[in-house]
Amino acid sequence: MWNIPFVPPTASQEAVGISWLYWVITALSVFFGGIVLFGAIFLAVKYRAGNQNVDRSNATDSDLRLELSWTLIPLILAIAIFGWAAKLYGDIYAPREGGYYEVFVVGKQWMWHCQHPNGVRENNELTLPAGQLIKATIISQDVIHAFSIPAFRVKRDAVPGRYNAMYFTPTVPGEYHLFCTEYCGTKHSEMIGKVRVLPPDEFEKWLQSGGAGAAAAPMSLEEQGKQLFTKLACNTCHMNPNSAVKAPDLNGLYGHEVKLADGRTVKADDAYIRESILNPGAKIVAGYQNQMPPYQGQIKEEEIIALIAYIKSLAQAGGGN
Ligand code: CUA
Repeated sequence: MWNIPFVPPTASQEAVGISWLYWVITALSVFFGGIVLFGAIFLAVKYRAGNQNVDRSNATDSDLRLELSWTLIPLILAIAIFGWAAKLYGDIYAPREGGYYEVFVVGKQWMWHCQHPNGVRENNELTLPAGQLIKATIISQDVIHAFSIPAFRVKRDAVPGRYNAMYFTPTVPGEYHLFCTEYCGTKHSEMIGKVRVLPPDEFEKWLQSGGAGAAAAPMSLEEQGKQLFTKLACNTCHMNPNSAVKAPDLNGLYGHEVKLADGRTVKADDAYIRESILNPGAKIVAGYQNQMPPYQGQIKEEEIIALIAYIKSLAQAGGGN
């Protein structure tokens, strides 16, 4: 019962700064709270009714220096804390262009499904390499969950229909708690798991061997996506020069600007591709008809992630639109 730690372990680069910020805010609060509390007690005792030994003449009711200092000092401290906290926030949530290892996390009632790019899957477990910047791309298959790793001081909502990302660098190999921190139904409190951080070489071995307990050699996300592309018959219209239905070319699409029929221009990113699979009518590419059937409700989030990985792999394949 008494082995519950007061603070979680500090196991990521981001956790160091956030712990410092936490303790500085705590120390400042205790300091200023102490001044007010003990000042009030001291004055209440000293000037209590009936105490004849104090001088009550010339009582002042204002002091400019005092008022300026109790206004300006906390103001400067608060702004400094805001600036510091904003910097730490940006370190976790500001989007980055590469240089990271990406994992996909799908929250569903009531489990976490984690997916590595090479196809290794984990349920309620996430294995990561130490010393490597990680991008976690998070989405929910049903209601709003929140993916939280206290030892890394990171958390992000898992929202249906939206890819949320966060970045962090685990530093200390070990096992850490993983929680859902958004009430999501009956078994919310059971929606927990563990994050395992391995030294880089062990992680590589683990990943190449297909993860502990994997039934078969994993197929990379890209290959899974390619298979789905055929299974769902996407290839009868897309990437088929002989198709009767004219569908946009997906070669070189990912990451490029797309002109839409209504005159807008959008970037072909994960969110755009996801929407175009589930609800193709939302953004029609200029020069094409609204002919594709919506896949809403017919495809799992994991499958969409695999399809996006496949379409991403086609980015290098051609000239684009
Ligand atoms: Cu999922 Cu709470």
